[in-house]
Amino acid sequence: MLSDLKELPQDKILALVGMFRADPRDDKIDLGLGVYRDAEGRTPVMRAVKAAERRLWESQETKAYTSLGGDPAYREAMRKLVLADAVEPERVASAATPGGTGAVRMAFELLGMAAPEATAWLPAETWPNHVSILRHLGRPTKTFRYFDAETGLVDFEGLIADLEGAQRGDLVVLHGCCHNPTGADPDIGQWEAIADTLASTGAIPMIDLAYQGFGDGLDADAAGTRLLASKLPETLIAASCSKNFGIYRERTGILFAVAEDAAARDLTQPTLEYLNRQNYSFPPDHGARVVTTVLEHAALREDWKAELEQIRDGMLSLRRQLASELRQRLNSDRFDFIAEHRGMFSRLGVTGDEVLALRERHGVYLVGDGRMNVAGLNAHTVPLLASAIADVIG
Ligand code: LMR
Repeated sequence: MLSDLKELPQDKILALVGMFRADPRDDKIDLGLGVYRDAEGRTPVMRAVKAAERRLWESQETKAYTSLGGDPAYREAMRKLVLADAVEPERVASAATPGGTGAVRMAFELLGMAAPEATAWLPAETWPNHVSILRHLGRPTKTFRYFDAETGLVDFEGLIADLEGAQRGDLVVLHGCCHNPTGADPDIGQWEAIADTLASTGAIPMIDLAYQGFGDGLDADAAGTRLLASKLPETLIAASCSKNFGIYRERTGILFAVAEDAAARDLTQPTLEYLNRQNYSFPPDHGARVVTTVLEHAALREDWKAELEQIRDGMLSLRRQLASELRQRLNSDRFDFIAEHRGMFSRLGVTGDEVLALRERHGVYLVGDGRMNVAGLNAHTVPLLASAIADVIG
């Protein structure tokens, strides 16, 4: 059996991790994998997370299973964080999942169960794992235009024109904020128009919300998601706590299925639990319990929000610094969009050859499509990156 397996294509993002490690240069710069790093290059455990873990260690008396959908307190705390009061709680089914990816996978499986013929629509630029999970599940896919490489902004006309071609019951994958890989997000007026288009076609949004709090703030980053959920009969949301709580390896995520009414919700909830059971039985609990502890404890919550704000501000200031360094070096506004983008990523609009030259000549590691992780920089490496970019495109 095993010798009959086919060789698989390497994950483009994860392949970079190994290449970076193997590079002996001291001044190499890792802008690949989407993990937040501070100015010293560390991915610290957030203060509130550490405090919550200490509390749990002292108070937790059992590690027996929770429920198939995960701890109800976690689901409620996350519902408030993600959806606030956008929809009545009676309409919201949810299940804790191993990371945001677990929720994405479950959303695609739900589509297969409810509507096996339906198409999943993906932005032409998206997280490669969206494509690969759908391929793995054998789901039909189509792409819609998303990014305008000329302006570095959302190709809004192309997006709407393509989504008008979706059929009733199709699933449309959107990034709630901090679009991965481009860094370009719709503004709130554009979210309104996306909602109208989805309402008129009857397609259902599946929003991947992996970076809430990394763009413009916790509420601003959820505004598009809340708007769609409040305007449309059905919305799926795959939320991740990896980045905003910094608990990547704890695999803490959640799938929300906002149903048309309480009856549809009552049908959906056991289906989500069934999917958990078929895939891995009970979802992981440690990270979920940490998140609940932080969100429910006033002082921990405030401290978490303060640290998250600091992280967000730091990335914004790196963006402004890089845009300004490039403007000076190139005497051009070509890269001004870097300061307008949000989240960890920006697609720089450099060619594959230029990405290669950055790696080989300067030890700068970007994903092959020109995606940069801003959080891999610090005030000292920004000028080095600006010089390297100026060199390879010059
Ligand atoms: C990324 O896009 O780099 C992150 O979401 C990490 C991953 O698993 O790909």
